[in-house]
Amino acid sequence: MADTQFDLVVIGAGPGGYVAAIRAAQLGMRVAVVEKRKTLGGTCLNVGCIPSKALLVASEKFSEAKHHLGAFGVKVSGVELDLPGMMKHKDEVVKSNVTGVDFLFKKNKITRFTGLGSIKAAGIVTVTKDDGSTEDVATKNILIATGSDVAPLPGVTIDEKRIVSSDGAIALDTVPGRLVVIGGGVIGLELGSVWQRLGAQVTVVEFFDRILPTMDGEVSKQMQRIMGKQGLSFKTSTKVTSAVTEGEVVKLTIEAAAGGNAETLEADIVLVAIGRRPFTSGLGLEAVGVALDERRRVKIDHHFQTNVPGIYAIGDVVAGAMLAHKAEEEGVVFAEILAGQTGHINYDAIPGVVYTWPEVASVGKTEEQLKAEGVAYKAGKFPFTANGRARSMNATDGFVKILADAKTDRILGAHIIGASAGEMIEELGLAIEFGASAEDIARTSHAHPTLTEAIKEAALAVDGRAIHM
Ligand code: FAD
Ligand code: NAI
Repeated sequence: MADTQFDLVVIGAGPGGYVAAIRAAQLGMRVAVVEKRKTLGGTCLNVGCIPSKALLVASEKFSEAKHHLGAFGVKVSGVELDLPGMMKHKDEVVKSNVTGVDFLFKKNKITRFTGLGSIKAAGIVTVTKDDGSTEDVATKNILIATGSDVAPLPGVTIDEKRIVSSDGAIALDTVPGRLVVIGGGVIGLELGSVWQRLGAQVTVVEFFDRILPTMDGEVSKQMQRIMGKQGLSFKTSTKVTSAVTEGEVVKLTIEAAAGGNAETLEADIVLVAIGRRPFTSGLGLEAVGVALDERRRVKIDHHFQTNVPGIYAIGDVVAGAMLAHKAEEEGVVFAEILAGQTGHINYDAIPGVVYTWPEVASVGKTEEQLKAEGVAYKAGKFPFTANGRARSMNATDGFVKILADAKTDRILGAHIIGASAGEMIEELGLAIEFGASAEDIARTSHAHPTLTEAIKEAALAVDGRAIHM
């Protein structure tokens, strides 16, 4: 056993694990992190949030140059795609982010082990290195932050060549003629958009009757309309039952979600994006008796502790939204609680953003959730067609919708479709965190002309007094 005694060993260096490690080190703990990848940053920085956003931004610029700049009186000719150049941009963005985490580890004197971490017993983490050698690391506390991986679809085997997960879809070397995306959720729409902008014919197959089925219903419907106009096709209430690769083509068998006649759908590339599942295999959890829930997520209490004292878990591997910033919040609060401080996360104030064009952003409750909970609410909505800045940007698709408690006027939820929705939602997240009312926002001066004026107008609309509508 190594003679070094740590206060905390974190398994997994994604946004949950690396942030927990930094915060714990800031609080004076001796911290080590075990990560099986060669680079730090986890799914998010290596193959998730960061590379997908680099490709979304780059493909948006290509599409703008090719189709949209003319409307602003900017003549562009000979626009061509340089896919290797675009991938180089993505790789450089990833590299600068993951090396940034390296720097932060050194700055905070965090010990790093590269290898597969497993829990031998409470207080001992075994690191298995690439050459097969092992090292036991002694620690007072263990944090499981091993994240998630792709949920498989029976009958559709991912080979990362023709049938890919998001890992393959961010690294294709040619633009597919026909891309079929299985799953109309966040990954399906973001990566479907990237390849559609670059020239692929994209069909999204979604099991439910609408895309983004967990978002506010009005948002889902409008996004499906907007993305349909952009050229994406949707087959909702449909399921894929099998996929067979024949040479260069994948033949998918699809049928109505409720069952029915089978049809064939052909694709050059298939992206499987039906969700992610917690990653708990190889950790030795059964041997030490760490309990999992019915969806194989690590069960924790309010202090992130599992049923085994001294073993904790955060991020995608536990219940809740599979989002980088949710994992980060948990990392900070976990470390503070471990240091004897009090910490709290308001899960109702965690935003969700889909980085399509336009963006979709949400925080708090949807109308469907409020109805199901029997909460009386008022809705105020304002469209970007009536916003001067949006008009000047040719970005009039979408709206801001604010849901406020019918009696107290307290903001319960907010939903935006629009350019920069992901930036704008923060005002409403802050409002929920501070327990603000729609009136508070309505009375706050918003600079003119900005897109955020639509937030103020939606807040005014909660009481039927929007000015520009
Ligand atoms: P992870 O980031 O998955 O990190 C876990 C780490 O643990 C990994 O590096 C893994 O190698 C390591 N590990 C696992 N087991 C072991 C072991 N036994 N030993 C050692 N190391 C181990 N979220 C957003 O908020 N915004 C976005 O824009 C966004 N975009 C995404 C795009 C894509 C394509 C994908 C796939 C995901 C995206 N997400 C996004 C989700 C986000 O990536 C996750 O919510 C986030 O990474 C979860 O953080 P985590 O620390 O829990 O786990
Ligand atoms: P998701 O849960 O967002 O979407 C999966 C979709 O697939 C759902 O609409 C679901 O109804 C559908 N589906 C499930 N089974 C199906 C089947 N058999 N046939 C057809 N459709 C089926 O999951 P996704 O897109 O894979 O993303 C995984 C996670 O990563 C999400 O939880 C998300 O939070 C996170 N992520 C976040 C991003 C962001 O914040 N911008 C970007 C990408 C991923």
